[in-house]
Amino acid sequence: MRSHKCGELTAQHLGQSVALCGWVHRRRDHGGVIFIDLRDRAGLVQVVFDPDEPESFALAESVRSEYVLRIEGIVRERPEGTHNPNMATGAIEVLAKHIEVLNESETPPFPLESDIEVNEETRLRFRYIDLRRTVMQQKMKVRRDVTRHLRQFLDDHEFFEIETPYLTKATPEGARDYIVPSRTHQNAFFALPQSPQLYKQLLMIAGMDRYYQVVRCFRDEDLRADRQPEFTQLDIETSFMNEQQIMEVMEEMIRRLFKDIIDVDLGAQFPVISYQEAMRRYGSDRPDLRVPLELVDIADEMKDVDFKVFSGPANAPDGRVVAMRLPNGGDLSRKDIDELTKFVAIYGAKGLAYIKVNDLAAGIEGLQSPIVKFAPDTVWANVMKKVGAQNGDLIFFGADKTAIVNEALGALRVKLGIDRNLLEGEWRPVWVVDFPMFAWDDKAKRFTAIHHPFTAPSCSSEDLVANPGQALSRAYDLVLNGTEVGGGSIRINRTAMQQTVFDILGIGHEEAREKFGFLLDALKYGAPPHGGIAFGLDRLVMLMTGSHSIRDVIAFPKTQTAACPLFNAPAFVSEEQLKELGIKLRKPAGKEEKRD
Ligand code: AMO
Ligand code: AMP
Repeated sequence: MRSHKCGELTAQHLGQSVALCGWVHRRRDHGGVIFIDLRDRAGLVQVVFDPDEPESFALAESVRSEYVLRIEGIVRERPEGTHNPNMATGAIEVLAKHIEVLNESETPPFPLESDIEVNEETRLRFRYIDLRRTVMQQKMKVRRDVTRHLRQFLDDHEFFEIETPYLTKATPEGARDYIVPSRTHQNAFFALPQSPQLYKQLLMIAGMDRYYQVVRCFRDEDLRADRQPEFTQLDIETSFMNEQQIMEVMEEMIRRLFKDIIDVDLGAQFPVISYQEAMRRYGSDRPDLRVPLELVDIADEMKDVDFKVFSGPANAPDGRVVAMRLPNGGDLSRKDIDELTKFVAIYGAKGLAYIKVNDLAAGIEGLQSPIVKFAPDTVWANVMKKVGAQNGDLIFFGADKTAIVNEALGALRVKLGIDRNLLEGEWRPVWVVDFPMFAWDDKAKRFTAIHHPFTAPSCSSEDLVANPGQALSRAYDLVLNGTEVGGGSIRINRTAMQQTVFDILGIGHEEAREKFGFLLDALKYGAPPHGGIAFGLDRLVMLMTGSHSIRDVIAFPKTQTAACPLFNAPAFVSEEQLKELGIKLRKPAGKEEKRD
């Protein structure tokens, strides 16, 4: 139907007869001449109709936005002074000789100009139109380029791409499962995989040596800008490699990806920091290193002060008291600080104490704050020294349970860094290592796995049992600008150690056999040392395209309430279908029930 794509025409094609197909992006009538910007995946080109071809001219007059056209014409240079440097094809135009309307279009629900804000629900309901927008086409192209590049790298490094089932059994990655009823096994359910974790381990036991897969994962969890109920991982597993070797190859892959696709240099070697250091300095295990602000522990200074809000957590084993210096923050108003206090309250902070540093030389007189009266001069002098305060700074304080202080001040750190334009460097990758094996769940009164239960500890089985809360794992996360883009670990490859970890997690022998018997058995048949990683492909593409949400880089994403407004999914099924599956609804059909 066509000889060229609209967006690829250049001065090289001058004088050539071309046939183009595409959508009417815009039509302008200019006193006797009609201009149509015709659009296809490659971009836009200006098509000109003049009255010398009366039939085509008349047809051109009748077309409207988003009509689908086929045009034959001649490529010519635009007249002097009408070149458009903002358009890839801005030096040329196509003089139409013939026009054919391939299809008409109703007026689109929103205009396709890239910079017009459209409500997301509407965009998703008409996603096929939203995806026609140039920005979205570019994002889809980057996504295609990214997966192609990653596949190429892994193929070159002798990884096999192997598919694993979607109809499977629960794999614990910390979220709820999506379950699928089975007609042939009544009362039994498949679970959609939260990740192919156990399959990839079995592939290593099967001697596949190096595996990868671009794979969909399903997790029923609270959604955020960087979380979707179904998302794509670049999932990887290797045999006979230790964590340093795996991190090295993966780092090289990511470095080349950024260089080749968006011409970004991520640096010779990514820094590596321990989980403990990340929590101490940044209050987060996915620190945004572009933000130069840091948390400084001041519990020692606050143990004996009169202010219970500080001395309480300073003396509590699970408490933390920190100060964070905002250079030149003295210009923040009372109202600004009230806003920030509301912001940290989202994370459970009960307040946000602060000190304005007016004049360090004047001692306590030079510090402006409702809290200075609670401690003697010497204490504040020590604190000011510890945080490196300068005149004109604002010092924030957080005191509470460690987890609350970390979340609240960690989030405040990033917010201030972004809002006040303090970011240093554009791209700051960092490996986070030495994660604890387990976290204590106070409500459930038991340990949970920080990575997943198949992650190897870096200590012996005896030490693990003696002190599970202190044990570290052989896990590693790759963090980029505050987003966790990948995570992996060396795995347990012996049945006894796997059983020990299940024991610590409170998964008894019987339950372990029922849920993971196949793994415990497989580990007995010569399981090689193995480990791997999975990258969040959507998150990588989100960062590489400068998008604010992974929804913008997924062709058909779900909404924040895990629904699809285009297909109207999830949807009710017929009584007949339910019967066949042996399912009876607890709340009989009729009204949809929404719950979090
Ligand atoms: P993990 O659970 O850390 O590890 O997931 C790996 C990466 O997947 C991305 N990710 C998500 N992206 C979008 N929406 C979500 N809901 C979502 N959840 C996770 C993140 C994350 O770093 N089996 C292990 C990997 C391994 O040990 O090899 C796993 O799935 O970028
Ligand atoms: P109050 O004595 O409760 O009025 O608190 C004095 C100051 O301490 C106020 O600026 C509060 O915002 C702040 N504050 C209260 N609780 C905390 C906390 N847990 N961490 C940090 N600052 C707090």
